[in-house]
Amino acid sequence: MVYAAFRSIGAYAPKKILSNEELSTMVDTTDEWITKRTGIKERRIAADNEYTSDLGIYAAELAIERSGLNKDEIDMIVCATISPDYFCMPSTATIISTKLGLKNITAFDISAACTGFVYILSIAKAFIESGMKKNVLIIGAEKLSSITDYSDRGTCILFGDGAGAAVISATDNKDEAIIDVHTGADGAYADLLMTPNGGSGSAHDSLDQEAANCFMQMKGNETFKVAVRTLTKDVVEILNENNINSESIKHFIPHQANYRIIKAVGDALKLREDQVVLTVEKYGNTSGASIPMAINDIYEQGRLKKGELMLLDAFGGGLTWGSALVPFSPLK
Ligand code: UT7
Repeated sequence: MVYAAFRSIGAYAPKKILSNEELSTMVDTTDEWITKRTGIKERRIAADNEYTSDLGIYAAELAIERSGLNKDEIDMIVCATISPDYFCMPSTATIISTKLGLKNITAFDISAACTGFVYILSIAKAFIESGMKKNVLIIGAEKLSSITDYSDRGTCILFGDGAGAAVISATDNKDEAIIDVHTGADGAYADLLMTPNGGSGSAHDSLDQEAANCFMQMKGNETFKVAVRTLTKDVVEILNENNINSESIKHFIPHQANYRIIKAVGDALKLREDQVVLTVEKYGNTSGASIPMAINDIYEQGRLKKGELMLLDAFGGGLTWGSALVPFSPLK
């Protein structure tokens, strides 16, 4: 039997910091309001000439280097993004594959918003367990500043740019294998969080209007309530189905949308503070990049050790949601 192991992590955060103070000169808000309601203090913003693929490639190169593999051993790249370099094509994954100097590999993007990293983890696991691929590079990369309306205080305070990547490889050792990945979706809630224009479903009234409506729009408060309910239910289910107690979780790594959502889910699971990984304060919400950026943070702080069990949990536009039980299994 072939299993899939989570071998390595890498991430990249653009240099430019956008603070709450600076945002409060752009829209009617305050550092106090943002901190209290979200836990966010600052977020990173990519340079004008820095695209989603550029953020992804920095993260990917680190993940490959840390995996101990030669980059030519990578046989598939999957990128989760809602802010690709180009609308429709080419995919950001193919651009990254070329920048990495890789030819003749499978490369494609997926769209699952903030749940993107959990979705691509499930794809990597399935391709590896079926024997179709051996070493899959998964990347969550977002330049959300390119689809954020900086006149809308309900959304612009939340989002930031960044990327995270991981190498998932085949193994015959069950002890180092990804235990389980859950993914779900319900389009009935599509209007809670969407970019209403720019696609074949848009009204095409005028180019100006179309451009403006390509920004993200969110019914924040309703999204908040569905997020807490869905995240908690999904995590309880994955733990029960795998007979794993929340005490066995070394690192709970939720999607970093809002500190209050993370706290509510952590409390429902009776997790201690030291089990919960938080990066929302310094990166804000980076959608599909938020979970791998958080994993990278604890890795670089020396807090993530071989064999430790991670519980990933995400929720986002679509609506989509997902969770995963993942031991950290580096080769070295
Ligand atoms: O990542 C994918 C999923 N996304 C999420 O999970 C995001 C979920 N939602 C949230 O994080 C929160 O709903 C927000 C942070 C977006 C908003 O917080 P809230 O506590 O739900 O606020 P609210 O929308 O209920 O608004 C409360 C008040 C309103 O004023 P009134 O009507 O009470 O006078 C808003 O107009 O706060 C006002 N408000 C603001 N005030 C200052 C909304 N945004 C701001 C702001 N600064 N930035």
